Amino acid sequence: MSFLADVTMNTLSALSTLFVFVIGSVCVILVVLFILDVSQTGDAVRRNYPVVGRFRHLFSTLGEFFRQYFFAMDREEMPFNRAERDWIYRAAKGEDNTIAFGSTKNLTPQGTAIFVNCPFPTLEEDAAATNPLRIGPYCKHPYDAPSVFNISGMSFGALSAPAVRALSRGAKMANCWMNTGEGGTSPYHLEGGCDIVAQIGTAKYGVRAPDGGLNEDKLKELATHEQVRMFEVKLSQGAKPGKGGILPAGKVTGEIAATRGIPEGEDSISPNRHPEINSVADILDFIAYVREVTGKPVGFKTVVGAYGWLIALCAEINRRGEESAPDFITVDSGDGGTGAAPMPLMDNVGLLVRESLPMVANILQAHGLRDRIRLIASGKLITPSGVAWALCTGADFVVSARGFMFSLGCIQALKCNKNTCPTGVTTHNPRLQRGLDPTDKAVKVASYCRNMVHEVEVLAHSCGVGEPRQLRRYHVRIVQANGSSVPLDVLHPWPDTPDELELVDRQPGSRQSATLGHTSEDEHPAAVPGQV
Ligand SMILES: Cc1cc2nc3c(=O)[nH]c(=O)nc-3n(C[C@H](O)[C@H](O)[C@H](O)COP(=O)(O)O)c2cc1C
Repeated sequence: MSFLADVTMNTLSALSTLFVFVIGSVCVILVVLFILDVSQTGDAVRRNYPVVGRFRHLFSTLGEFFRQYFFAMDREEMPFNRAERDWIYRAAKGEDNTIAFGSTKNLTPQGTAIFVNCPFPTLEEDAAATNPLRIGPYCKHPYDAPSVFNISGMSFGALSAPAVRALSRGAKMANCWMNTGEGGTSPYHLEGGCDIVAQIGTAKYGVRAPDGGLNEDKLKELATHEQVRMFEVKLSQGAKPGKGGILPAGKVTGEIAATRGIPEGEDSISPNRHPEINSVADILDFIAYVREVTGKPVGFKTVVGAYGWLIALCAEINRRGEESAPDFITVDSGDGGTGAAPMPLMDNVGLLVRESLPMVANILQAHGLRDRIRLIASGKLITPSGVAWALCTGADFVVSARGFMFSLGCIQALKCNKNTCPTGVTTHNPRLQRGLDPTDKAVKVASYCRNMVHEVEVLAHSCGVGEPRQLRRYHVRIVQANGSSVPLDVLHPWPDTPDELELVDRQPGSRQSATLGHTSEDEHPAAVPGQV
């Protein structure tokens, strides 16, 4: 009995000593923090509110993680809201993607697309399969691209190895193409067996000569892979026009450095443009050279800001002959994604695809080049309505980067530039990569792509056409400031000649918008080669 009492007394005594020690330590720590805070001059909040001021930083950091779970409404977050992300997660899992009760989307803001359903929707037996579309008719090896929806460029480096492997295998299952992004073509891109679009970025990673120019032998060797179907010259990217790729040193591992042909552990910064491309004539020369060396279709990717150069480009193509044309143009949106970019470029430079896609389509149409140059659209086109809008507007294909990242399990943690991505998509930390199983995620990538195409077909059938590529501008109306909608073919009528080009939205009830005719330097300063 007395033994039990002794043990109890000793335990209580030890606990009380521990308690006093803990309280004492906390008091000492608080005093030290207090002194540190009032004596520092860098942070005004901590100086004026010592110790408690530190919680501000803690709560802002935690808020970043918790907002999306507790506070943000379904249609509120940026760049993608929960409703959009959830649609992709369900499509990727192949789950039921119906919703109940009614739309949570506000359908009245200006710019909202409303599709024009037909009183006699297409019956299932009348539905048609979308045929492959030929890109590069004058090439030795043209590409008959099977899918309207494909994977946009994301470099190995920005993406982890397991992410690239999952995308490559998923693309093969879904029969779509995968663009390598500007980091070069790695064995991971090739291992799934999918069609590859090899991007040539401004640093020419993967096909780079010691002086930074294009290495013809490496280019030829890359083109020998049957899987490599096309080459995309990256002129600019929506998230950072006027700036080259940025891969922070922490993400330049040995393997990535080897794929790019650069030193390990140093920032990988591409030039802000191809030094050898100074004019629209140079664009065509460069494309002709790559096409000649590779025998495969070659196009370019750009975000549109100044547009006169596109008019000058088309005029130059028509002067040289339509064989000289790029086989495709990828129009990226000013609000596109990236692994890393400066905020002012990401936020405020480059037109949104909503504005630039009809503009580029019209420029091609006016110059008689719409069948020759395939138009690829990208920029937040991650749900069926976005893809269907792009097809109505004039795109032949749609590509997405972040849509496919969500299918890989991305939770929009916005850490792509930090090597700390919690889902393993954009980190090279093996511990975090464990969460991304390429075999499992490949199935999700494929499922997202297939379900996207299926629901675009559903939309097309509702509009009364047999398949997505039969969608036309008159199938979609755009909500205006006054709340009523106007058909897209009225906002952006197709021009027959360059004289009929109207590059500003027609505003119903207002005076006809500016009509742009020929591309004299006076009328279109932006058309002056070298100034664009
Ligand atoms: C992580 C990441 C890496 C990217 N890397 C490249 C790249 O290497 N080359 C490129 O042209 N675009 C790159 N992009 C841009 C995408 O290809 C795409 O143009 C843009 O994100 C818009 O499509 P989205 O809204 O579907 O993401 C990248 C985007 C992301 C999110």
